[in-house]
Amino acid sequence: MIRLNILQLLYAGCLFLLMTGNIRAQPQLIRPGAIWLDDRGKPIQAHGGGILKFGDTYYWFGEDRSEGLDRSKRYVACYASTDLAHWTFRNQVVKLADPENLGRGWVLERPKVFYNAPTKKFVMYAHLDDSRYQLASVAVLTCDTVDGDYHYLKSFRPLGHESRDIGQFVDDDGTAYLIFEDRPFGFRIATLSADYLNVGKQVCLIPEHMEGGAIVHYDGLYYAIGSALTGWNPNPNQYATATNLAGPWSEFKDIAPPEANTYGAQSTMLLKVTGTRATTVIFMGDMWRPREQWDSRYVWMPLRIGGGKLWLPPPAPWTLDIKTGEAVITGTNSVPEK
Ligand code: GAL
Repeated sequence: MIRLNILQLLYAGCLFLLMTGNIRAQPQLIRPGAIWLDDRGKPIQAHGGGILKFGDTYYWFGEDRSEGLDRSKRYVACYASTDLAHWTFRNQVVKLADPENLGRGWVLERPKVFYNAPTKKFVMYAHLDDSRYQLASVAVLTCDTVDGDYHYLKSFRPLGHESRDIGQFVDDDGTAYLIFEDRPFGFRIATLSADYLNVGKQVCLIPEHMEGGAIVHYDGLYYAIGSALTGWNPNPNQYATATNLAGPWSEFKDIAPPEANTYGAQSTMLLKVTGTRATTVIFMGDMWRPREQWDSRYVWMPLRIGGGKLWLPPPAPWTLDIKTGEAVITGTNSVPEK
């Protein structure tokens, strides 16, 4: 009888702790460089990707380079998560046939999705090109739902400039920007039009030859990351800071020891997660495998950032508490050998 009461007490205690949230499931490890499986057990295909937070859910869009796809088409996949660690496949949101007669080897890369509140449309920008990268334009696709089928609308050169790698940045005040690499001149930042279907005004030209552009607004400062122009090969990514997006920008400095070549990764986005106790900025990068594109990996790491300095720690498994915003690096180097 007494034993039963103790068991009952224990049971009630556990129930209480669970209900008050004091026992939480251990957060899932994020393992940079490892194969990252979705809810179906398939490797996530979201290369050169971007993240849109809509409601409480994060949507990860990226190039789907799965083996066995129709080689004349280009694909973008969309995954959803509420903790940034477990990802549920939602849809192959783009299955596009060559929209502008670009010919064999045409390119649709680095898709980024913005939500336009006035029109309630989801607007995707992507790099559109021919196999020789001479078109240097953006494609615009739209959808009424976040993970529905996106329809091709048009392509153009933003503000008449060449545009290859693109990045997206949404400031704390909700203003949306497109970052694009204009080969002759540098790295441009521009607003989008009210409906996001066009590029609005140029905010800044950073006269550096950089791609993989990504920006975050952290503690009163803008930090911009860029990658050198070395194609699929990694290089030492660098960052600059400014108090205003229009500049002046500081000189660019390394984000990691230059000999590490960004640990084999190339920047695609900086994601800020603000929780109840901390704000974590995640470096999202691609470890490209040009000959086995489907097996390209992701390097996501919490950055050391603040006071005008930014540093990418060596990739290692880590956890993120999405509620508190706290990131904990739990292990040592996790990037597998090739
Ligand atoms: C990289 C670029 C990738 C892809 C690749 C093709 O510089 O960041 O998105 O375009 O070149 O070589």
